Amino acid sequence: MNTNMLNNFATQKNISDLINRGYYFIESETGFLACNTYGNGRMAEPVQIIDYLESFVTPKNLKGKKIIVTAGPTIERIDPVRYISNDSSGKMGYAIARVARNRGAEVTLISGPSNLEKIGGIRSIDIKSADDLFTAINDVFLENEVLIMAAAPADYKVVNKTHIKIKSSSIPEIQLSKNKDIISHFASIKEDRLVIGFAAETNDLIENASLKLKKKNLDYIIANDVSKPGAGFNVDTNIASIISSEKIVNLPLMSKYELADEILNLI
Ligand code: PMT
Repeated sequence: MNTNMLNNFATQKNISDLINRGYYFIESETGFLACNTYGNGRMAEPVQIIDYLESFVTPKNLKGKKIIVTAGPTIERIDPVRYISNDSSGKMGYAIARVARNRGAEVTLISGPSNLEKIGGIRSIDIKSADDLFTAINDVFLENEVLIMAAAPADYKVVNKTHIKIKSSSIPEIQLSKNKDIISHFASIKEDRLVIGFAAETNDLIENASLKLKKKNLDYIIANDVSKPGAGFNVDTNIASIISSEKIVNLPLMSKYELADEILNLI
């Protein structure tokens, strides 16, 4: 053994001794090091350290719960360069997934295209279309106890999508058909699972959301008026009402993380 190997061995032994004594470690990262070499030994990024500490100090009151969270938009192709989508950033669903993880749940996050950083310590599944979203939920639904649908699946898909780019000189006639109502399908086979939906409305919030709660057979619906400043798409805050068959709880403006906590308290 050379000196490097001995040092490495001693370090590993010290680390495992400390872990056995109940100490926790934030792992170092791989990349370019100060000594001008490439390898493992970089300090973890400050955001990752904060993320770890947040998770560390949160009481694990959802330990043992298996939760699916959906987030983000779906995209429905028109041709290889164009699609139909919406303004969902994924922030609401990612906040729920992160808080659920911090509270000890086993989380599967199924997300449409989003620019948000992947969350450590959960299972992440990326999807594109509403049909992909349906398939991804279907693959894991039975092994989970809770489904929270914060995603904004497109309601329509393009029947006559093309595999080559449509010439800009022509004006195509786009034919649409309805996508599956995904949450309704899973709520219809939920048995004793909890299914929580969102309602994105621009008018008659409580009335429209209450209708969706009933029609889709949900346990709760989180109603947000996406036309209000500070609520809905692509902002860090939301203003929501939590509606069940028994009651309506109107919440004030709060961060999506705080709203995530309120939603997860329902479990
Ligand atoms: O991602 P962000 O930028 O943070 O924005 C958050 C949000 C506005 C997307 C989120 O708060 C929200 O409201 N999500 C639901 C959007 C939506 O699709 O609402 P809806 O009222 O059209 O649908 C009602 C429910 O049915 C939703 O749970 C939706 O996920 C589900 N649905 C909708 C269409 C469809 N084909 N299948 C579904 O399962």
